Amino acid sequence: MLIFNKKSDLSAFLSPLIQQNKSIGFVPTMGALHKGHLSLLEKSLSENEITVMSIFVNPTQFNNSEDLDKYPRTLERDIQIMQEVSNTIIVYAPEVEDIYEGKTVSQSFDYDGLENQMEGKHRPGHFDGVGTIVKRLFEIVQPNKAYFGEKDFQQLQIVKKLVEKNNIPVAVIGCPIHREDSGLAMSSRNERLSETARKNAAIIYQILNSAKEIFATNSAEATVKWVENEFQKHPDFQLEYFEIADETTLLPVNTKEADKKYRGFIAIFIENIRLIDNISLN
Ligand code: PAJ
Repeated sequence: MLIFNKKSDLSAFLSPLIQQNKSIGFVPTMGALHKGHLSLLEKSLSENEITVMSIFVNPTQFNNSEDLDKYPRTLERDIQIMQEVSNTIIVYAPEVEDIYEGKTVSQSFDYDGLENQMEGKHRPGHFDGVGTIVKRLFEIVQPNKAYFGEKDFQQLQIVKKLVEKNNIPVAVIGCPIHREDSGLAMSSRNERLSETARKNAAIIYQILNSAKEIFATNSAEATVKWVENEFQKHPDFQLEYFEIADETTLLPVNTKEADKKYRGFIAIFIENIRLIDNISLN
């Protein structure tokens, strides 16, 4: 397995392959790899001649410095995990300097309003940071296809918009949410939960599934109220938001329309750790 820390070395390695029209699949991550990440990796390996995975905890997308400091960094373990999947993976694991060259700031992006909803509202600047790093990584790797999880559904829609608005020649592929046996969406943050909290956190997906049933015969407003009320019965959870939104515009739903696709989105704290999840509702 080849591991590059410098973009210049990675580009020198990839450029003859790009010239030979080899298909390149790309999986950007922040490391602390789990099976959710690996499902993206396996899809890329099955669809491309070359797969590049990046591991980089991107400082500009964190609006909370404590969250950035506490983000797990487990590069050696990550490399071992990737090696077990395939030793043909090309890894790019840069330092902040290699990406930001002394100017660790975000560019600002207009994603036609997608950035003003949910995660964008609650994490100011987050999607400018995501856009900055994803655009830069696409320029360095020049992939044909890039793989993103529906776990971060708003991020997936934003990356599709970034590519469309900037005419970046990359096909953005959305991949289903990988869950623990309990139903809890896999996340690097789950590692920070106590054993009890991790067990209790299974209720998030249970409530999302019940919300889906309730939404089938009730309004969005009634469904949102029901979810808020359920979490009030569980004081170890602090609900930040539960919203029902149109999948394409991410705008909150007022009146249901038959031809639209809707999703429920949640952000919730348990033991001060912020978890997000979402579910397709129709
Ligand atoms: P990270 O949280 O490491 O996630 C990397 C990719 O894995 C994202 O596309 C994310 O949606 C996907 N992923 C995470 N958990 C998943 C799960 N349980 N099932 C399926 N896919 C899952 O998202 C980021 O990093 C960063 O914002 C990044 C895009 C790398 C930019 O810095």
